[in-house]
Amino acid sequence: MPGKNRGQQNFEKTLGRFRDYGQDRVFRFWDRLDEQQRQRLLDQATAVDLATLERTHAAATGRTGSRPPKLEAVPIVRLPSHGGDAAAAERAFERGSQGLAEGRVAALVVAGGQATRLGFDGPKGAYPVGPISERTLFEQQAQKIRGLRRRSGHPLPWYIMTSAATDVATRALFADNDSFGLPSEDVTFFQQGMVQSLDFEGRMMLERPDRIFENPNGHGGSLTALLSSGALDDIERRGVDTVFYYQVDNPLIRIADPTYLGFHLEAEAEMSCKVIRKCDPMEKVGVVARADGKIGVIEYSEIDDEHRFATDENGELEFWAGNAAIHIFSTAFIRRVAEHADEFLPYHASAKRIPTIDDEGRPVQPSEPNGRKLERFVFDALGAARPVCLIEGDRSLEYSPIKNAEGTDSPTSARRDLIAAYRSWLDTAGIELPKGGVAIEIDHSRVDGPDEARQLGIRRCAEAGETIRVQAREDA
Ligand code: UD1
Repeated sequence: MPGKNRGQQNFEKTLGRFRDYGQDRVFRFWDRLDEQQRQRLLDQATAVDLATLERTHAAATGRTGSRPPKLEAVPIVRLPSHGGDAAAAERAFERGSQGLAEGRVAALVVAGGQATRLGFDGPKGAYPVGPISERTLFEQQAQKIRGLRRRSGHPLPWYIMTSAATDVATRALFADNDSFGLPSEDVTFFQQGMVQSLDFEGRMMLERPDRIFENPNGHGGSLTALLSSGALDDIERRGVDTVFYYQVDNPLIRIADPTYLGFHLEAEAEMSCKVIRKCDPMEKVGVVARADGKIGVIEYSEIDDEHRFATDENGELEFWAGNAAIHIFSTAFIRRVAEHADEFLPYHASAKRIPTIDDEGRPVQPSEPNGRKLERFVFDALGAARPVCLIEGDRSLEYSPIKNAEGTDSPTSARRDLIAAYRSWLDTAGIELPKGGVAIEIDHSRVDGPDEARQLGIRRCAEAGETIRVQAREDA
């Protein structure tokens, strides 16, 4: 094409490609963009694999609204307090502790979500959760990992998945706080992928005249990003074969809980899932069940009322097993799933309110869903795992996520449950608390449960110095 510069040629080639897929509207502001903006949009557009996007979108929307699957409850290893075998739990604890002492375990936290429902301006891991110190979720988790390192004598390397939305702020938080007391070589950040959201006609959307809207590709993207970033190689190089996975939003998380690890190792499971008893049929947790013969998680938005409200002969919920999003993987399984992600981790499409621009280029904050986000869900890998280990966790001591600004699953409910968990540790350890409403905060690097509280050998909190802090609080 004589007379045309390379930039123009690139643009025309890309425009042609986009036209073939009915996606050329993303260039509708081209004439208004300056050189820099054009280059930015062109770079972003060139990276889009249009054929895959079209195929993925068709498959995901084709599944939406299809016949609901037939569900069957699945056997779950119960807690001794709920009729489970206490000796088996004791054996599992020993086995899991041994796995930790052999340095076989790493922790993986997914922290790429945008905290839209919480309305917090920053990565969720930076949320101040400490009832007294206001320490962040990340700092609290770092304390737990320091405790595990001390007990096991091994690093317990920590892998933190961020996204384009959370990466810079997350790294800065760790850099500003000396990795919260952990050696920086044992804390690895890796970024999940992004995927284009589409409107209800299947067209890409612009968030700015020079920018296509993309969303993080779901927590299932953690497995593919572990592989593509090289983090999985790093994990294996360290002699780790077991990865403990959790979500950043649960301050009660028992990272690398030895009993859970032990059940997983004993079962030689490829993937495990911890469940908690649903507190009511409408609770926004997925349920673990066999769907059309295959073990999986049926999302709270996808379960039909017949199954949601079904009860057994004792009047208990038949599908009580809520997905706490706490998993354990073997590294070999992560590799297999990530290498065949389109088969094992298919994209789901969900209608969302997507910030976009109108035909004049003015920002639009829709009040109703105006398009679909595509996401991979990590729990879909359960369907590929042989065998799977499903165990029950103690909701009051292990699960109270921060999802919403107020009400259930909010900072207020999570702090309340955290204080209640601390209180139960201290009660069990025979440590007296001052009378009246008190906020409590425990340094997890020193005391991470009732046993370590007991080992302090004290009778009153005041004797524990900074390890256990107590503050009179009327609202606590
Ligand atoms: C999720 C589970 C649900 C489970 C519940 C337990 C889904 C679809 N459902 O619901 O089965 O019972 O948690 O609390 O996940 N994240 C990323 N990248 C992403 C998307 C999410 O890192 O692209 C992370 C978030 O930072 C967060 C976690 O995944 O830590 C969960 O995401 P969220 O949107 O809060 O899931 P829920 O709808 O609450």
